[in-house]
Amino acid sequence: MSQEYILEMIDIVKEFPGVRALKGVQLKVRPGKVHTLMGENGAGKSTLMKCLIGIHPPTSGKIIYDGKEVHFKTTQEALNSGISMIHQELSPVPERSVAENLWLGRVPVKGLRVDHKKMREDSFKLFESLGLDVNPDEKMGNLTVAKMQMVEIAKAVSYDSKIVIMDEPTSSLTETEVEHLFRIIEDLKKKNVAVIYISHKMEEIFRISDDITVFRDGEYVGTDEAKNLTVDKLITLMVGREVTEMFPKIECPIGETVLKVENLSAGKAVKNVSFELHKGEILGMAGLVGAGRTETAETIFGLRTKTGGKIYKNGKELNIKSPEEAIANGIALLTEDRRGQGILGLLSVTDNTAIANMKQYGFPLKHKQMREDTADYVSKLNIKTPDIQTPIQNLSGGNQQKVLVGRWLLTDPEILIVDEPTRGIDVGAKAEIHSLITRLAGEGKAIILISSEMPEVMGMSDRIVVMHEGVMTAIVDRKDFSSELILEYATSDKPYEPGQKEG
Ligand SMILES: Nc1ncnc2c1ncn2[C@@H]1O[C@H](COP(=O)(O)OP(=O)(O)OP(=O)(O)O)[C@@H](O)[C@H]1O
Ligand SMILES: [Mg+2]
Repeated sequence: MSQEYILEMIDIVKEFPGVRALKGVQLKVRPGKVHTLMGENGAGKSTLMKCLIGIHPPTSGKIIYDGKEVHFKTTQEALNSGISMIHQELSPVPERSVAENLWLGRVPVKGLRVDHKKMREDSFKLFESLGLDVNPDEKMGNLTVAKMQMVEIAKAVSYDSKIVIMDEPTSSLTETEVEHLFRIIEDLKKKNVAVIYISHKMEEIFRISDDITVFRDGEYVGTDEAKNLTVDKLITLMVGREVTEMFPKIECPIGETVLKVENLSAGKAVKNVSFELHKGEILGMAGLVGAGRTETAETIFGLRTKTGGKIYKNGKELNIKSPEEAIANGIALLTEDRRGQGILGLLSVTDNTAIANMKQYGFPLKHKQMREDTADYVSKLNIKTPDIQTPIQNLSGGNQQKVLVGRWLLTDPEILIVDEPTRGIDVGAKAEIHSLITRLAGEGKAIILISSEMPEVMGMSDRIVVMHEGVMTAIVDRKDFSSELILEYATSDKPYEPGQKEG
C-alpha cells in the first residue's frame, strides 16, 4: 500500500432503488492537501462522501484509509477513526444552545451529570482557537444561517480528525467568513489533515485546491492538480460541453411602481428601509452578513413582524401578517434557508412543488393537475429526479433547490423575492436560473434578488440596494456598478438619504 495517500476509494458503486448514483468511481486523497470534488448537481459527490463515513453502505468497491481497508457502518465509527464531515444540509437542533449543538453525542459528564461548566469552557476554547465570535450560550436557532454554518465547521474541526470533509461549506457564508474558513483550512493543512472539499464556486476552488477530481453523472472523469487546470477546462470536464452565458441580462422596459417600501423597520434587524420596485425590474440587494437583507425580505413576506413603516402594492397599503397573506397578494419568497423553511424532506417532489399553490388545487385536491404542473417545472428547470413522486430528500442538494424555485414560480407571483437563489447550484444550472429570472422580469414581474455573490448581483440587477447592519446605505444604478463602490457602501454606517445622488 502506498503511503502517498491517506484515503483511496476504488471502484465505488452505489445503487439506490431505481438510481445508479455512483457507477464505479475513484478518489485518492493526499494528507495535508485540499482535494476538491466537482461535478454538476446530482453527479454523486455527496453520495460518495456518505459511502465513506458510514451513512450509506456502498454497493461495491473498496475503501482504504490510513493503510487499511475499512467499512464504516456508522458516522460514529468514522469519527472515532478520524473522519469528520460538514454536511451540505445543516441539521442543527435550534432549541438547544450552541454549546450543546457542538458537543452533541459527546457531552462531557461529571459523575452522572452533564458537565455544563466544562462544555462551556471547551466551547470558548474552541471558538477562541478558531477566532470565532459566537456565544456558546446563545440558542442555536437565534443564529444567522452563516453563523450556524461556522458552528458546524468548528464542530467538524474539533474532532482532531485526519480527514475533514466539507460539503459546500461556504454556500451560506459571505466573503469575510469565507476568508475565515480558508484560514482554518490552512491551519488544518499545517497539521497534515486532508480536506475533501465540495463546492460549485470556481474562484474559491482555484484558491484553495491542491487536487481536483471531477465526476459526471455518477462517473469518474478524472483527477489532476489544480495548477494544471483552468476554469474553462474544468467546466468542460464537468458538463461535457462549454457553458458560456453566465449573466444573460436583457435590457427590458421598466414599468410602473409595483412595490413601495417606506421606512420599513423590524426590531433591530431592519431600520427605516425605503425603496421602490418596478414592473420588469430586478432590484438587487447586497451587503455583508447581518446586513438585514433576508430580514427585510421576511418582513415584506409576513414571516417577521413589522415594527414600523409602510408597504404599498400598486398604490394600496398592505398589512401582511403571514406568508399566506403575502402569497394571496401576489408576493413570493424563495428562502435562503431551504432546510429550515423550505424543504419538506419526506414529501414528494410533487407535494413540495405544489404546496405554496394549494388554493389553486381546491378541495377535493386536483392531484392530476398537481402532477402535471410539477412535471412541467421538472422539465423546465431540468430537475434531476427519478420520478416526481420521489421523496425530495433523495434528490441532490442542488436539485432540491431547483424544486423550490419551481414552487414559487408556480404561484405566478407579481413580486418574486429570491434570497441566494443559486446557492449550491452548479454552473450549468446556475446559468439556467439566471436566464429564467431575466425572462420573468421580461414578462413584467418585479424581482428582488438578494445575493452575496458580487458577480451575480451586479450581473443581474438594474439597481442595487446596499445595506449594512439593518440600515440601507445606498441605491446604486446599473451604470454606476462596481464592486469597490458596493463594498464601500456595504461597510458604511451612513444611511442613504432620499434625494442623495444615486450611486
Ligand atoms: N437516499 C437516496 N435515495 C435515492 N436516490 C438518492 C439518494 N441520495 C442521493 N440519490 C441520488 O443520487 C444521485 C447523486 O446525488 P448526490 O446528492 O450525491 O449529488 P451531488 O453531486 O452531491 O449534487 P449537488 O451538487 O446537487 O449536491 C442523484 O441522482 C440523487 O437523486
Ligand atoms: Mg451534494
